[in-house]
Amino acid sequence: MATVPLPTAYGEFEAHAFECASRFVYLALVKGTIGTEGPVLTRLHSECLTGDALGSLRCDCGTQLRLALRTIAAEGRGVLVYATGHEGRGAGLIDKLRAYVEQDSGADTLDANLRLGLPVDSRTYDHAAAVLAMLGVGSVRLLTNNPAKVSGLEAAGIRVAQVEPIPTAAHSRNHRYLATKERRLDHHQPAGAKLNGASAEVADVSALLGRIRPHRDRPHVVLKYAQTLDGRIATASGDSKWISGEGERSISHALRAACDGVLVGIGTVEQDDPRLTVRMVPGASPVRFVLDSTLRISPSAQILDEDASTIVLTTERSALDRREALRACQVGVRILPAGPGGVDIAAALEVLHCGGVRSLLVEGGAKVITSILAAGFADRVIVGMAPTIIGAGTEAVGDLGSARIADGVRLTNRCLHAMADDLLVAWDVERQA
Ligand SMILES: NC(=O)c1ccc[n+]([C@@H]2O[C@H](COP(=O)([O-])OP(=O)(O)OC[C@H]3O[C@@H](n4cnc5c(N)ncnc54)[C@H](OP(=O)(O)O)[C@@H]3O)[C@@H](O)[C@H]2O)c1
Repeated sequence: MATVPLPTAYGEFEAHAFECASRFVYLALVKGTIGTEGPVLTRLHSECLTGDALGSLRCDCGTQLRLALRTIAAEGRGVLVYATGHEGRGAGLIDKLRAYVEQDSGADTLDANLRLGLPVDSRTYDHAAAVLAMLGVGSVRLLTNNPAKVSGLEAAGIRVAQVEPIPTAAHSRNHRYLATKERRLDHHQPAGAKLNGASAEVADVSALLGRIRPHRDRPHVVLKYAQTLDGRIATASGDSKWISGEGERSISHALRAACDGVLVGIGTVEQDDPRLTVRMVPGASPVRFVLDSTLRISPSAQILDEDASTIVLTTERSALDRREALRACQVGVRILPAGPGGVDIAAALEVLHCGGVRSLLVEGGAKVITSILAAGFADRVIVGMAPTIIGAGTEAVGDLGSARIADGVRLTNRCLHAMADDLLVAWDVERQA
């Protein structure tokens, strides 16, 4: 129906629009020359308004879409066919949202459709195959985890020379959905390979993360830090780059991708200038939170960049003009009561909860970790232990007032994982009486 160049963040594609009898549009984004040089890298993407356009974390669609465009652009030759009739596995947007309601009351993604009297999957692939044929694509390397797309295209006459899986780092909100797709629809490891000590491009970190159990008035809080064997998270001068190896750090990124929010103190922002986005694995970045009672954060801090949302939690002790300057850059500022360490930690967690944060990854530094442990708000602790001993330095945890070993914070349900020379250990924090 129309052909036009479409410049995107991933480079320019040639967009070809096709309309089928049902009035659904198939939009093919073509990169490079299709020619005859062997199978074409191809993604057949089912429309998902909530995931693709709005960034919903109930599914993996948006991340897969962006990853596929990036992969095709990197290859310099390929096609992404965007199928608008495929919303909600063919159920349409409204019924997909109704199925979400069913999922929230316990049904998995298949049973939710069945409860509503809908087919589990009503998509067909003959139109997509016709589009590919019209573009001159006879055989493909298909970017998919879904075996039904492979058999559907083949049945419609497109040869699938190779299947290239497209796993994403699961979010705690979509992990169950991905597990159901793997278990009941035979999808190939949509959340990546199980942790096995080797660096997989995408590793399923759900065992380390444990079960997310949000509370009535605060998120589920996971403390995560990397330490030397002698329990330091930085040298005495504050250097912490890098304590652990690349594999351990990519697991940290997958943990970030799994959580609604990530929180650090202003000390870490000043010392390390972290971005706290998800870059080492395909996944969505969480909302970033900074505890900073006087707003000493530098306007050029990387955590304020546009790659993800940021909210600074401060107190009445911060200057009005600094608050306004941050707000003018689309950074959220919340004024909270002061507490022992700076911002009152209970009030901070309650504000996050009210904003919809159900899982929070706390990535330091020492003062914030100590405040959260001291207040009894930690639900899980994940420690990356690196084979280095540095002697005096910044301790991971400060004074918790434990006079006896028995006074210590008790940890249970250990999960242990070796990643190259590092060890990752995770435990649940035993509920304090
Ligand atoms: N190895 C790792 O995994 C890792 C991770 C992160 C950081 N680090 C290292 O840790 C060091 C930074 O640790 P840090 O202890 O100095 O900084 P921090 O814990 O990141 O920040 C502490 C500051 O946050 C503010 N704050 C506000 N409310 C707070 C509360 N309720 N509890 C605690 N702090 C609160 C306080 O400043 P105001 O009073 O001004 O608000 C406080 O001084 C750096 O050397 C960094 O490299 C290591």
